[in-house]
Amino acid sequence: MVRNVSIFDTTLRDGEQVPGAKLNMKEKLEVATQLKHLGVDFIEAGFPSSSTGDFQAVKEIATKVGNSEDVVITALARAVKSDIDAVYESIKYAKNPLIHIVLGTSDIHVEKKFGKSKDEILSKGVEAVKYAKTLLPDVQYSTEDASRSDFEYLWNTIEAVVKAGATIINIPDTVGFAEPEEFGHLIYRINQRLINLNDQVILSVHCHNDLGMATANTLAAIKNGADKVECTINGIGERAGNTSLEEVVMAIKTKPSIYKAETKIVTKEIMKTSKLVSNLMGIEVQPNKAITGENAFAHSSGIHQDGLLKSRDAYEIISPKDIGLDDMELVLTARSGRHAVKSALQRIGFGSLTDDQFTVIFDDFLEIADQKKEVYSHDLYTIVARHLKNLA
Ligand code: KIV
Ligand code: ZN
Repeated sequence: MVRNVSIFDTTLRDGEQVPGAKLNMKEKLEVATQLKHLGVDFIEAGFPSSSTGDFQAVKEIATKVGNSEDVVITALARAVKSDIDAVYESIKYAKNPLIHIVLGTSDIHVEKKFGKSKDEILSKGVEAVKYAKTLLPDVQYSTEDASRSDFEYLWNTIEAVVKAGATIINIPDTVGFAEPEEFGHLIYRINQRLINLNDQVILSVHCHNDLGMATANTLAAIKNGADKVECTINGIGERAGNTSLEEVVMAIKTKPSIYKAETKIVTKEIMKTSKLVSNLMGIEVQPNKAITGENAFAHSSGIHQDGLLKSRDAYEIISPKDIGLDDMELVLTARSGRHAVKSALQRIGFGSLTDDQFTVIFDDFLEIADQKKEVYSHDLYTIVARHLKNLA
């Protein structure tokens, strides 16, 4: 059976925590509008108690983007009344508003960060949920640093906040400390108990990429019962970033027999969303980044280019068109073969060269390719133009 996994986008909250990535209200609205076109189920629009500007931006997004049933608008609150009030006052304009509360469960957070006892923190969380429930029916509770928490205390917290009315339980790997097998096992254990406690509660995960495992951990969680995953466009976020939305979505789509799941993401909107976020936030996507990197669909080895021209699936597991790109790119270099150069010439209108004509041009190409790192279409034009008279 194929089940739906909900996509919660936190580009405008966790993603915006990247130094220098701050957006103005108009830009946030633009990103939120595009996220809706992309088909995300939840948009975390900000942290309204952090500043008046953030409060206003969340309110604007709730009003203008949250005006339809198909998307939930949420914002983050610490487990304190003033934060919860700020979230409620800013998101209440949305058709589907959700209050998101975060409070740590690891000994490090409880004892060192808050200097409190476990019982005190658990009660604080329960009180926060009870208060939020007086404002809205939908409340998400995040057990910050869950992956480094004592399991029984983590479970006691989950049980108590679910009994207090939490409708979504979010398990964060806050510092990217988990690895796939252990995170999958953690989600499995929580899921088994949660189903018995209240099978209507949504189990969610939120991973960070400090050890480069955010996507793998999120996918392991999906295999072990997570119904909802939190991620950002291009994987931006605090420190090494969050789980990358496009990686998780395309992994699920590419390997249906493994994940047995689908999302509502309109994958053709992925590239456009990636470019918008990157341009507005001024954060370049690393060239070899999976799915949205400039080289993700560019092939430069002659052997690969030859193989692709014979059969795309030789070196391509995802069609570039699926994420909204025109086509794959064959990067011509000194390692490119005759087949790739011929195909590039064809694309720029020189598809009917004789073998002799092509040989002359190919020799010239190799000479230029030896001097330059990459040969572009305009270089090919120059080569052809140089030989035009001879070709005529
Ligand atoms: O990383 C984290 O724990 C968070 C929570 C607010 C979910 O961002
Ligand atoms: Zn986070």
